[in-house]
Amino acid sequence: MKKTQNQMLIIFGASGDLTARKLIPAIYNLHKDKHLPENFVVLGASRSAMTDQEFRQKVVQESEFLKDRISKDGKDFIADFADKIFYEDLGDNYDSSYKALAKRIGKLNKEKECEENYIFYLSTPPSLYEVIAKNLCEAGLTKEETGWKRIIVEKPFGYSLETAKELNEGLHKYFNEPQVYRIDHYLGKETVQNLLVTRFSNSIFEPTWNRRYIHHVEITNAETVGVEKRGGYYDKSGALRDMFQSHLLQVLSLIVMEPPINASAEEIRDEKVKALKSLRLMTDPQVLATHTMKGQYVASTIDGKKVKGYREEEGVDPNSKTETFAAVKFFVDNWRWKDVPFYVRTAKCMPTKVTEVVIHFKSPAHEVFKSQDVYKKDNKLIIRIQPDEGILIKFGVKVPGLGFHVEQANLEFYYSDLDSAEIMDAYERLLLDAMQGDATLYARADEVEAAWRFVDPILKYWENEEVPTFGYPAGTWGPRNSDDLFEGHFGWRNPGDLLTDETGFCIL
Ligand code: BG6
Repeated sequence: MKKTQNQMLIIFGASGDLTARKLIPAIYNLHKDKHLPENFVVLGASRSAMTDQEFRQKVVQESEFLKDRISKDGKDFIADFADKIFYEDLGDNYDSSYKALAKRIGKLNKEKECEENYIFYLSTPPSLYEVIAKNLCEAGLTKEETGWKRIIVEKPFGYSLETAKELNEGLHKYFNEPQVYRIDHYLGKETVQNLLVTRFSNSIFEPTWNRRYIHHVEITNAETVGVEKRGGYYDKSGALRDMFQSHLLQVLSLIVMEPPINASAEEIRDEKVKALKSLRLMTDPQVLATHTMKGQYVASTIDGKKVKGYREEEGVDPNSKTETFAAVKFFVDNWRWKDVPFYVRTAKCMPTKVTEVVIHFKSPAHEVFKSQDVYKKDNKLIIRIQPDEGILIKFGVKVPGLGFHVEQANLEFYYSDLDSAEIMDAYERLLLDAMQGDATLYARADEVEAAWRFVDPILKYWENEEVPTFGYPAGTWGPRNSDDLFEGHFGWRNPGDLLTDETGFCIL
């Protein structure tokens, strides 16, 4: 096991939702599983006025997650954990507040012996990333002579290729690339990491993982929830920026990439960048019209309950054309994937929560069972990222009896069947990696830019008023015509059932 050195985690924007909901529970689990170093401090920083005690109260005592743990782990254990947490009010005056912050960090470092190893976690609006990096540098907090310094930044990382480049350049003024950890929580998911293991630790998949055997690849990310309380943010972002550019292109890069020469962060990320650079850019409006589709959920009734449409959500423009459904068909221009179509979709308010990759294999080269329906059902490898994490192979078996009737059977593996099936939360895994200096599961600058390069022309095309935004009733599998992307072959695999019978179909 890798060693975690003594260190301090300084969270900016600590009064926000992410700290209480994700970061503190993740750190608590690391503490419980004895992954934290002996000397470890969390210092929350934000512009809300709070004492250490008040901050502890907010993120520990009032945390739903930790309330649940009291009966199991005991009050004393939780109090001991809370003792590692401190707070610094940044106030409104950045000049003096960063001096005060540097002083506080220095003092805590002396008291708790964190060896001047600091992680700065930016959980603030992205517009503050560069400002914070600059202030840290000017306050002398980025020097590495006496201990390492790392910075973690949350998504969204930019709003377009141009803004992502600006952000990279801005951060690089104060931190070197190896110090920058761009978090994408999908890379912290066990099943996403397992894509690498499935592909590169087995010899049975690699020979078929190419254009000779694969007919097409499908990736679905479906959520049952709408935009909840994030309407203000989401309306400016949309599904393509929110999910596709980051999480789904990360998953895709692991499917598409070539085997790295070893499992080091740089080798793996070099291959991922190559994969993302091979995505065929779509700039021709005719291609974009037939290869992309945007949709938006409209009001419906699920189980007798009225569900709001996107335009009625808080913070959303009542005439918004922002997509809550995004589907893209595209090709990968390299030897392995030539002519293999990839279909990727993501949406809110779908019938079920599921993220899966489906590899559809081609029919056998020679059809022996001519009179049967055998070849209509393709072999599939389904990698279920969430929930019911696992892998499924669908293949044809003979139905017992006369003749050659074929049915599809499943070969299944579920993570929950493993003895050691405790799946680490994504944030827990990613925080631990950053603490240990392992950036494999973090996105590198060139990766993020390559992903934006592919997404930018689609976003530009979608800004055009004439591009239709198709309405779909909340609780359905998206616009009724979304199978059109498949041009008559197959269609989306829709696991689970519809939650609503409504078939309302409209162009918004
Ligand atoms: C976030 C998006 O990055 O991922 C959200 O901003 C989305 O809109 C969430 O709901 C999905 O994450 P998960 O882990 O629930 O699939």
